[in-house]
Formats: sequence, C-alpha cells, structure tokens
Amino acid sequence: MGDVLTVSTSETTTGAIRYRGRNEVPPQFRPPRAPRHFVGRGEELSAIRAGGVTVLSGPGGVGKTALALKWLQDRGSGDQLYVDLATREPIADVLRSFGLIEVPAAERAAVFRSLAMRRQFTLLLDNADSAEQVTPLLPASGTVLVTSRERLNLEQAQEIDVEPLVDDPRLDALLDLSYVELPERQARLYRLCAWEPGPFDVPVAAAIAGEADCDVEDALDDLVEKSLLTEVGDAFRFHELVRAHARTKR
Ligand SMILES: Nc1ncnc2c1ncn2[C@@H]1O[C@H](COP(=O)(O)OP(=O)(O)OP(=O)(O)O)[C@@H](O)[C@H]1O
Ligand SMILES: [Mg+2]
Repeated sequence: MGDVLTVSTSETTTGAIRYRGRNEVPPQFRPPRAPRHFVGRGEELSAIRAGGVTVLSGPGGVGKTALALKWLQDRGSGDQLYVDLATREPIADVLRSFGLIEVPAAERAAVFRSLAMRRQFTLLLDNADSAEQVTPLLPASGTVLVTSRERLNLEQAQEIDVEPLVDDPRLDALLDLSYVELPERQARLYRLCAWEPGPFDVPVAAAIAGEADCDVEDALDDLVEKSLLTEVGDAFRFHELVRAHARTKR
C-alpha cells in the first residue's frame, strides 16, 4: 500500500492535511543522484544552511542542480522532495502522487506548503523562473533549496551566486574514471559530440556518429545517467569542463 492522504473541503481551504500511512516520497519526486565525479564547491556546500531557504542562482549549466543534489546527498537525513518547476503542472503532480487528486488550482500552493510542513520535507525546488512562482510554495519552516537562472531576491532567503568552476585537475582524473568504463558506442559519442559547440539533439548526434537515431538515443541517455551529459528539454549539453575533457580524448 502506498501513502494515504485525506483532505476534506474545509481542510483544503486552510491547507491542512490529515495524513496516515507509510511515510514515503514517491520515486519520481526523490532527488536524483548527485554526479559521481562531483568536485569542488566546498564553500558553497558549507554556506547552505539547514533550516532556511537558500537560492542557488547562476547561468545555465554552471552546476546549480548538481550542487543542490550534492548537499542533499551529503546531508542524507529526513525525507527529501525534489520538484522540477520547469515541468507543466509540477505542484498538481506532486499532490496527485500523494493521493490529493482534485485540489483546485487556487489552493494547490497552500496544500503543498501544508504537506511539506507536516512531513518535514527538505525541499529542492529546481529550475524556478521567478520569485512569484516560488514564494507561495515556501513552508513556514524547514529547509528549502531553490535553483534558478535568475536572481530571485526572495525575502529571508540567502542567495548564493553559483559561478563557473575553476579548472580543477581532480575533475579530469574523476572524469577519466567514468570515461574508461564507457562502452565503445558511448565513449565514441562522448568524444564526437563534444565538438558540437552548443546543445544538440538526437538527430544531430546520430548524424555526427553516422548511426541510427534509436541507438544513439540510448547511448546519450546512458551518458546523462552517468552525469557526463545534461538533458535540456529535447536536447543534450555538455558542462564546459566535461566538454574540455571529452575533447582531449582520442
Ligand atoms: N561540481 C561539479 N562536479 C562535477 N560535475 C558537475 C559539477 N557541477 C556540475 N556538474 C555537471 O555539469 C553539468 C551541468 O550541471 P547542472 O545540471 O547542475 O547545471 P545547472 O546550473 O543546474 O543548469 P540549468 O540552469 O540548465 O539547470 C551536469 O552534467 C553536472 O553533472
Ligand atoms: Mg539545473
């Protein structure tokens, strides 16, 4: 049996939720693993405070999500809820996964806050695009990490500017460890696609490699799984340091 939540109309209005059942976060809302070859970011990791709201802001691909995931993984305790705000109806989806099926749109934020409070979730709100989007979702207490390409200037939150990683020799060594374990098709794609200057999709990668779309798609998914590549919508992109590493390979 999964989680069971009951909400009556009057309770929905106040955002109160009665919960019973097992205390588990559905798999699709658990944070994914941090990159296996995570390096650096010591200062940022120690600046993130438990029990408060921290916004990690910076340009696309700089490493905001990876940093947040690493912090969550190191912390390891309590229930952690990962919400990708860039998806179509993220909050409705979260509520639905906890059995709250027909919460009216105007009340979802309040019900979400209540859920987060009751369960004392540590939240990662990934890919926020504005303060207006995030503010209604913040529970009155608890730990919340937010990532955004914009500075959000949220009240009572600390905001960390995530800057590009300086070249770190340890990253090359760690990437080598991942690279030598790649099956040949993945290793070849890793080397070849790194010469694409920007994001690329499956047909482009297939053309570069001279292979069928379906074969290439699986291999690209595996590279994403291994944190060597990032998926952005229908496209794939290298972190610039990973790209630099891939370009040194023959
Ligand atoms: N400190 C790190 N060590 C190793 N790999 C990293 C590190 N930071 C980021 N990466 C890798 O770089 C890529 C991009 O990082 P990430 O997805 O965190 O960027 P982002 O800032 O969240 O980008 P976006 O704004 O597009 O969401 C990923 O493949 C990630 O695994
Ligand atoms: Mg991200």
